Amino acid sequence: MNAQVQQGGDARSVAGAVRFVPFTPDRIADVMAVERRIYPFPWTPGNFADSLRSGYSGWILEDADSSVIAYAVAMLAVDEAHLLNLGVDIPYRRQGYGARMLDWMAQTMREYGAATMLLEVRPSNTAALHLYRNYGFRTIGRRRGYYPDHHGREDALVMRVRL
Ligand SMILES: CC(C)(COP(=O)(O)OP(=O)(O)OC[C@H]1O[C@@H](n2cnc3c(N)ncnc32)[C@H](O)[C@@H]1OP(=O)(O)O)[C@@H](O)C(=O)NCCC(=O)NCCS
Repeated sequence: MNAQVQQGGDARSVAGAVRFVPFTPDRIADVMAVERRIYPFPWTPGNFADSLRSGYSGWILEDADSSVIAYAVAMLAVDEAHLLNLGVDIPYRRQGYGARMLDWMAQTMREYGAATMLLEVRPSNTAALHLYRNYGFRTIGRRRGYYPDHHGREDALVMRVRL
């Protein structure tokens, strides 16, 4: 996964109920609007379409007006889930939605038979590292030059948690 672009902007709180809904292809445009805001190297609509077509597990956390607060995509390989993308739109940051989305994905993947969950994260992505460490993820390796960055390539930390 990529690093965040920035925090900031006006914080937005959600008055009504929020809900998890399946990420269906008709929501790709909604998610892409957030994806482009939050990642310097965003996924493309095709990346999302391919993931959904391949049967990966995609979920959106939305408010009562169906605005996207957060989203995530994970794939299952035997008994290991691989979290491929997780993002929270900028106005909703630091309100626990990232942790809720992560927990939802972990529970869902466990129900599908996953015993562990794996992910890659940029070492410079402080917010994500906090989120994952708090959840119990531990670093198990490093992939050299895994991500593009503005100066060339950046390593990825590989993290895993037992579900
Ligand atoms: C990483 C991200 C998902 C966190 O979402 P969030 O909704 O702000 O996170 P939460 O409010 O649930 O916070 C979860 C924990 O992480 C910590 N945290 C979140 N952002 C942080 C930051 N910028 N600095 C330090 N800690 C941070 C919170 O303090 C919280 O810890 P706590 O439970 O001890 O209070 C969000 O910043 C984001 O979408 N970033 C861009 C996309 C991205 O980088 N995704 C991950 C790719 S691997």
